[in-house]
Amino acid sequence: MPFLSRISLAPLSGANYGHQIPSLNRGLQLELKSNVTFFVGENGSGKSTLLEGIAEQCGFNLRGGNRNHNMNTGWRFEGYESELAKYLQLSWTPRRITEGFFMRAESFFNFASYIDEMAMNDSRLLRAYGGRLLHKQSHGESFLSLFNNQFESGIYILDEPEAALSPARIMAFMSIIYELERSGRAQFLIATHSPMLICYPGAIVYCLEDDGVRETSYDDTEHFSLTRAFLNNPGLYLHHLTDR
Ligand SMILES: Nc1ncnc2c1ncn2[C@@H]1O[C@H](COP(=O)(O)OP(=O)(O)OP(=O)(O)O)[C@@H](O)[C@H]1O
Ligand SMILES: [Mg+2]
Repeated sequence: MPFLSRISLAPLSGANYGHQIPSLNRGLQLELKSNVTFFVGENGSGKSTLLEGIAEQCGFNLRGGNRNHNMNTGWRFEGYESELAKYLQLSWTPRRITEGFFMRAESFFNFASYIDEMAMNDSRLLRAYGGRLLHKQSHGESFLSLFNNQFESGIYILDEPEAALSPARIMAFMSIIYELERSGRAQFLIATHSPMLICYPGAIVYCLEDDGVRETSYDDTEHFSLTRAFLNNPGLYLHHLTDR
C-alpha cells in the first residue's frame, strides 16, 4: 500500500500559469494504487508542474533534495515555489511520511555538488558513495550511485530520471526500484518520456491530456507505440521526415 494514497487538486484559477494548463486546470482526483506511479504526456502537458506541487506539499526542496537538504542549504527562495501547491491536497496512509527526495533532471548537478561538499568532510559519507565524489562519476554512474547508496525508505519524486541513463542502466534502475518498493518502504512518482521505464510491472501510468489526466497502460501510450513502430522500421519514418 503506498504511503501517498491520493492526490486532489482543486480547479485552478487566478494569475498563475497553472490555469492555462489544460490537463490540470479543472482539478484532479488521482488514486495512487501502486508504489510506482508514472506521469506521461506531451512536452508542456504539465508533468513537471504537477510533480513540483506534490514535492512542495511533501516539504521537499524544489531545486531537488530532501527535507534536510532543504533546511541545511536554504536553497529554497522566492520564485521557486510551486504555483500549484496551494491547490493540492495529499492523503497519506497510514500517516504522512517525511523521508524521501525530489529530483529534477536539471538540478541533479547542483545536488551532486552539495553531496560532494559534505562528503569531502565526511569519509563515511564518501565511502557510502563508493569512495568517489559524484562529480568524478559520469551523470548516469552518479545517479545510480545515489540510488544504490542513499535511498532506502521514503517517497521519491523524480522528473525524467532517464536523462542520465543508457538503456542498460534504465533496466538496472528498474531493478533498484524493485528492491526498494517490494520492501514496502518506498514509493516512486516519476514523470518520464521513457517507453522502457513505464513498462515496470504493476505500475500505474497516468497520462496528462488536453481534457484532464487519464489512467492508461504502458502499451497504450504514444511513447511506447510510436517508439516501437519507429524502431521496427526507422527507414520508413525517416523517409517521410527527411525525404531521403
Ligand atoms: N514558470 C512558468 N511560468 C509560466 N509558464 C510555465 C512555467 N513553467 C512551465 N510553464 C508552462 O506550463 C506548461 C506545462 O509545463 P511543464 O514544465 O509542467 O510541462 P512538462 O509536461 O513537464 O513538459 P516536458 O515534457 O517538456 O518536461 C507549459 O506550457 C509551460 O510552458
Ligand atoms: Mg517536465
